[in-house]
Amino acid sequence: MTLPADDLISQAKELFAQAADPAALENAKARFLGKQGALTALLKGLAQLDPEQKREQGGRINQVKQQIEGLLNQRRAELVQAELDKRLAAETIDVTLPGRGRGAGGIHPVIQTWQRVQAIFASIGFDSVEGPEIENDWTNFTALNNPENHPARSMQDTFYVDMKDESGLPLLLRTHTSPMQVRYARMNKPPIKVIAPGRTYRVDSDATHSPMFHQVEGLWIAEDISFADLKGVYTDFLRAFFETDELSVRFRPSFFPFTEPSAEIDMMFSSGPNQGRWLEISGSGQVHPQVVRNFGLDPERYIGFAFGSGLERLTMLRHGVNDLRQFFEGDLRFLRQFNR
Ligand code: FA5
Ligand code: MG
Repeated sequence: MTLPADDLISQAKELFAQAADPAALENAKARFLGKQGALTALLKGLAQLDPEQKREQGGRINQVKQQIEGLLNQRRAELVQAELDKRLAAETIDVTLPGRGRGAGGIHPVIQTWQRVQAIFASIGFDSVEGPEIENDWTNFTALNNPENHPARSMQDTFYVDMKDESGLPLLLRTHTSPMQVRYARMNKPPIKVIAPGRTYRVDSDATHSPMFHQVEGLWIAEDISFADLKGVYTDFLRAFFETDELSVRFRPSFFPFTEPSAEIDMMFSSGPNQGRWLEISGSGQVHPQVVRNFGLDPERYIGFAFGSGLERLTMLRHGVNDLRQFFEGDLRFLRQFNR
């Protein structure tokens, strides 16, 4: 006599083989081993039998159950292997495809200029420091000999911050790097030989002016530093920066409250695309005696020069860029040209 249990093995074999994925297999399993499954029903039926038959059939049902479980595990392993084979086939690497690259990023052209300026001035003994971008109006204006009513302080070109510092001084986004002259000189003993690159802010916006831009301040104060040193140092700097001696430098008389005499520094390439055109690079001058006094130094003893140059302007000249707003638009097609 064949027990219904014997048929179950071939039924299970067939259904398990038909299950194409693990979820289908678990459904098929439930038909035999689940709470409502065929084997479970057979086991329940044992209760009605006498002890002799119970033992015999019970043993048989258990064997069948073990075989079905064996079939189930075998099919499970097959499905896992099939899944793996499928993934391996789908994910084969085509070693002939070009790599995707790591997207290493690059240094912004203005920051490249910043680093280049630092390296050149470091080679002639200048320290390099950075100062706060939010300044008080004493350091940004008053200490630099800007009279109270000087137009440079006006709301039109200065971003004031709606707060005061601990000593009640109005705060603003610094309009130039010159306040670092004061901060550094008050904290260090002469000889003072420093550059201070950094961000500066003005209410300004066109092809050659941006509301946020970068300057580098230079300051050299000792007992014997003259305007001639400014000319020599700055001309050598420009030759190193542009990697050419084919340029002329001109100190054009100008005015800054914190220098006397004052000069705009213009340069002209004697070859290349900008050849034959004077271009303004920087403000400069001999530090005003009142400013030397504000440094906490005796102007009868200490003398020197300062300059403040636009880093965007230097970058534009070096690479022939004619609109400085491109530096801040974040267009990768533009920026990538500086990182090759
Ligand atoms: C000054 O800011 C003075 N502090 C420079 C100075 C320092 C003079 C030390 C004497 C002694 P000026 O406003 O000219 O000067 O700015 C200096 C340079 O910053 C300019 O030559 C220009 O290259 C750059 N610059 C000024 N405004 C902007 C702007 N809105 N966008 C980009 N660059 C600017
Ligand atoms: Mg100027």
